[in-house]
Amino acid sequence: MPAVGIVIGNGNKEYPGNLTTYVTITCIVAAMGGLIFGYDIGISGGVTTMESFQKKFFPSVYEKQKNDHESSQYCRFDSVSLTLFTSSLYLAALCSCVVASYVTRKFGRKLSMLVGGVLFCAGALLNGFATAVWMLIVGRLLLGFGIGFTNQSVPLYLSEMAPYKYRGALNIGFQLSISIGILVANVLNFFFSKIRGGWGWRLSLGGAVVPALIITVGSLILPDTPNSMIERGQFEKAKTKLRKIRGVDNVDDEINDLIAASEASKLVEHPWRNLLQRKYRPHLTMAILIPSFQQLTGINVIMFYAPVLFQTIGFGSDAALMSAVVTGLVNVGATVVSIYGVDKWGRRFLFLEGGVQMLISQVAVAAAIGAKFGVDGNPGVLPKWYAIVVVLFICIYVAAFAWSWGPLGWLVPSEIFPLEIRSAAQSLTVSMNMIFTFLIAQVFLMMLCHMKFGLFIFFAFFVVVMSIFIYMFLPETRGVPIEEMNQVWRSHWYWSKFVDADPGHVEMGKIH
Ligand code: BGC
Repeated sequence: MPAVGIVIGNGNKEYPGNLTTYVTITCIVAAMGGLIFGYDIGISGGVTTMESFQKKFFPSVYEKQKNDHESSQYCRFDSVSLTLFTSSLYLAALCSCVVASYVTRKFGRKLSMLVGGVLFCAGALLNGFATAVWMLIVGRLLLGFGIGFTNQSVPLYLSEMAPYKYRGALNIGFQLSISIGILVANVLNFFFSKIRGGWGWRLSLGGAVVPALIITVGSLILPDTPNSMIERGQFEKAKTKLRKIRGVDNVDDEINDLIAASEASKLVEHPWRNLLQRKYRPHLTMAILIPSFQQLTGINVIMFYAPVLFQTIGFGSDAALMSAVVTGLVNVGATVVSIYGVDKWGRRFLFLEGGVQMLISQVAVAAAIGAKFGVDGNPGVLPKWYAIVVVLFICIYVAAFAWSWGPLGWLVPSEIFPLEIRSAAQSLTVSMNMIFTFLIAQVFLMMLCHMKFGLFIFFAFFVVVMSIFIYMFLPETRGVPIEEMNQVWRSHWYWSKFVDADPGHVEMGKIH
């Protein structure tokens, strides 16, 4: 094995390599891992509003909704058991992250995807055939475990495979498949809810086996990333693979840097404890704050509860489901914009533009709902133009999320962690995402009941905070090779204090 020399990285590395068909197809297949996550996000809200489903599993909720003509509109759907159904999955995902981190590091990204796909498949079957509440719950837990594995491995896989100049675009394939998953789920719910016998929910829930099979089979045919092969000592194999991926013979520079990063990473015995070291402070901060902020945009209020929300503002149940399909389409379209722009305009621009756009639309939605519903929640007859205006602003908001915090919430963490802490830090990112998804799923209906239209102002406040945070603390990572990322912290006005303060901190950059 070559000797590892230590030099200060110049930060202007350019690795040769093309956007080969091989890497493109590989990344498309891997990105499909997002489908299961998206499908699940989209399916739960619609299923929990289907009467036949409520009657079978949550009869008390059903009764309450039928007979309750007293409560304000804001509180019609406030039910702990129903929200637990939606949110339990995120708790399970949270728990599986730690195991997933170990598997991803020790056995490679591929195996993690495979485990994720298989668990998800099992969960989908159990849910589709459920005859009792326990089957629903165990099914949800299996789905959650599956998501913990795939959300851990897929973003890392994509960022490691991609040539650095196209890393943003290829990584956002993950978010694109999340949004396609959500859209497909919404469309299916729309049709399945119409099935006469009332068993449409079985198709909705059981349908999750399709995306689960895609990622299961996909993970079997995908190659492992060179980074992951090197991490497990397979140097020659990694080099051959990298040549194929990049479509050029001369991959020496890149492979050497990968080996150097892997050497550094082997010195680390406790990746978790390591994360707490001072020099990893920027990484730790981003691993915690980016996913938390992503959820505090309030996006999942729309994703989980759009049909409920639209019914609350006076749509019939069909129109409500249909509007959810419209927001789903906007979500997919705007993600494509992000794929186009992320490596051209950079991450910071998208984050900041998205923040301003979300803020404006949230304030507009709050004002519109506040004006008609007031605080007592009894709007009287709502004109059609009113509903259209609300849906329009919600679409503007969803578009903003879908080209900023949505994709970047997964992309930025996956590209900033050095190899020695990558799996652990990614697992922290997924965990934070899941904790906040859980909290918001769990408390949203209660918050809507109590905070009323002010709920949108609550999320708008966080959008202001997170935009300031990005402006001050997130350096631009566009066009920086992943193993060279350290330079962006070293030249940052604030983070340089942390990374430079460590006397042992030099970049392992070249092999002589
Ligand atoms: C988020 C999900 C969200 C989805 C919407 C993802 O990036 O993690 O919580 O539902 O985007 O498209």
